[in-house]
Amino acid sequence: MTIDNQEELDALIRAGRVVAEARQAMVEAVSPGTTTGELDAVGREVFRRYGARSAPRVTYRFPGTTCISINDEAAHGIPSLKRQLREGDLVNLDVSAELDGYYSDTGISVAVGKVSPVATRLLEATRLAQQDAMTTAQPGARFRDLGRVVEKRARRHGFRVIKNLNGHGIGRGLHEEPSVPSVDDGHRMVLREGLVLAIEPFLSVSSDHVIDDEDGWTLRTSDGSLVAQFEHSMVVTKEGPLVLTA
Ligand code: CO
Ligand code: CO
Repeated sequence: MTIDNQEELDALIRAGRVVAEARQAMVEAVSPGTTTGELDAVGREVFRRYGARSAPRVTYRFPGTTCISINDEAAHGIPSLKRQLREGDLVNLDVSAELDGYYSDTGISVAVGKVSPVATRLLEATRLAQQDAMTTAQPGARFRDLGRVVEKRARRHGFRVIKNLNGHGIGRGLHEEPSVPSVDDGHRMVLREGLVLAIEPFLSVSSDHVIDDEDGWTLRTSDGSLVAQFEHSMVVTKEGPLVLTA
């Protein structure tokens, strides 16, 4: 959506706070031995307190409140009380909610205990790629510019960008037009002031695309290599990105 009044901005700020708080509470609960089902319950409790609803459940009947994906799983992992985190894992927490008719979406990949040097570098490169894309998201920039800076960041750190996962518009729905490319796709459309976007590059050690898992939800890298994602919802403004989910 594109914001055109203060009420819309206030509502988006409220929705953003809920998902940011849920994400943070879940990050603090990450440790070896914790199950992804327990992490999901932590997020669910924050949503409940604010009267927010799980966006993927409302929109797609996703069988969880949040999406929790481990190692080569990029996105849409189903939380389970049988799935334990282990020391050395990378876990991605993707948290999105609807509050009073407005949607917000955020994600973070975190290390479980001590992880390999390559996993540590992948986390840092992906976090920076997400920041680069947000900083580039100024009025007048082209969508392809966002993809270009993500690609550049990935290349500099020796990683690859997942090409078939994109960011998206957000606000009145979880996934709105336009799609936000993670690579330079030649898309010449220009960003306008007030546009609300969820920016979420995925970087991987050696794969450039994800494939469907047989559970019907989980997306994993084509070659089984590690993947990471960071995501924020933001408003495009002349003063720079107004991050709703910080
Ligand atoms: Co998300
Ligand atoms: Co998203």
